[in-house]
Amino acid sequence: MTTAVNRSERLMATRQRGADAAAVLGALPVPVVLLDRENRFRHVNHAAEQFLGISVASLSQLRLNDLIPLDNPLFLLIEQVRTTEATISDHDLNLESPRLQKRGITVQGSPLPEEPGAVLLVLQDASAARSLDRQLAFRGAARSVTGMAAILAHEVKNPLSGIRGAAQLLEESVGPADRELAELIRDEADRIRALVDRMEAFGEKPITRTAVNIHRVLEHVRKLAKSGFGANIRFVETYDPSLPPVWGNRDQLVQVILNLVKNAAEAMTQVGNGRNGNGRPEITLATGFQQGVRVAIPGSTTRLDLPLFVAVRDNGPGIPEDIRPHLFEPFVTSKSYGSGLGLALVAKIVGDHGGLIEVNSRPGRTEFRLHLPVVSEKDADQ
Ligand SMILES: Nc1ncnc2c1ncn2[C@@H]1O[C@H](COP(=O)(O)OP(=O)(O)OP(=O)(O)O)[C@@H](O)[C@H]1O
Ligand SMILES: [Mg+2]
Repeated sequence: MTTAVNRSERLMATRQRGADAAAVLGALPVPVVLLDRENRFRHVNHAAEQFLGISVASLSQLRLNDLIPLDNPLFLLIEQVRTTEATISDHDLNLESPRLQKRGITVQGSPLPEEPGAVLLVLQDASAARSLDRQLAFRGAARSVTGMAAILAHEVKNPLSGIRGAAQLLEESVGPADRELAELIRDEADRIRALVDRMEAFGEKPITRTAVNIHRVLEHVRKLAKSGFGANIRFVETYDPSLPPVWGNRDQLVQVILNLVKNAAEAMTQVGNGRNGNGRPEITLATGFQQGVRVAIPGSTTRLDLPLFVAVRDNGPGIPEDIRPHLFEPFVTSKSYGSGLGLALVAKIVGDHGGLIEVNSRPGRTEFRLHLPVVSEKDADQ
């Protein structure tokens, strides 16, 4: 008698848990889809119904391949989730067919341990990713700057050197009061010149790659910081020494890390801006493996695995709210002396490397995480 009661209680509890799970899934503002082992739609939450623009009733009659052609990389991801039984995410996917027109989608696929073969898919378009405070710098972000950089370099540098030269001549011929003005012109011309030089870094030049030891890059930047702008900051290093080399350009990777470390230092040490950090300024440099991050190789259907991550973390005040949606765009800055080019350049270089950058920020903890490709056997043969 007691066992029967217990069993029915357990059954009720299990059903209740199932109902709770369905309610939670239904209420999630993120599109979530559960596929069975034949890629039939087992469960579709409300957000996914809206995202796909197809009712749950219709979807329950369909398989995924009725919506998206079988050669879509999404099927590869699903198969990999099944074989590896690990969570895999893919960025910048295009889900296109006569019924569906979705571009630049981030998909995260996870296995369901209780149901072999079932795969849970979480879908996000770029705007949803932003609202989840997970910003991805897509390759295009800095492209718009490329053309502008070339024009600036051409059209500004020449007249600028004329202005500078004229100011220098004036300096020699005018009295002390006016000399100060001439010096001002020269200094400002130098400042514009430095800005144009930085813009030129956006130019579309092919990068030369070698096998780069990312830990050496991080150490180099840490030393640079320690001997200058980051002298009062504590650095913490959590490196995975077994990491393989990155397939990239060493100088450009130094530039990336330097920009991130400099931003972190500036965020923590700015005074009088009403933004408070979290105790003693500290920057953590971390590396490690993170399986399951992939992106498209531009202009091809091949996907590139990005198993290696490099993180720059600080305990500063966090990224100002108003800047977040445009963080990687050029000229976005909260600093009176900033040019707002640092992160745009970071996004450009990471994109050129076929990598990805994510940011996660709240007061007291800001992390920029780069996902980079490692040297493959094919590269090593070159
Ligand atoms: N670690 C961080 N913590 C808080 N805010 C940050 C952090 N990194 C970047 N930001 C914000 O993002 C803005 C843009 O950064 P970015 O490096 O592109 O330009 P900048 O640092 O202002 O100028 P520049 O790098 O050209 O000198 C910064 O002005 C700052 O408001
Ligand atoms: Mg900066």
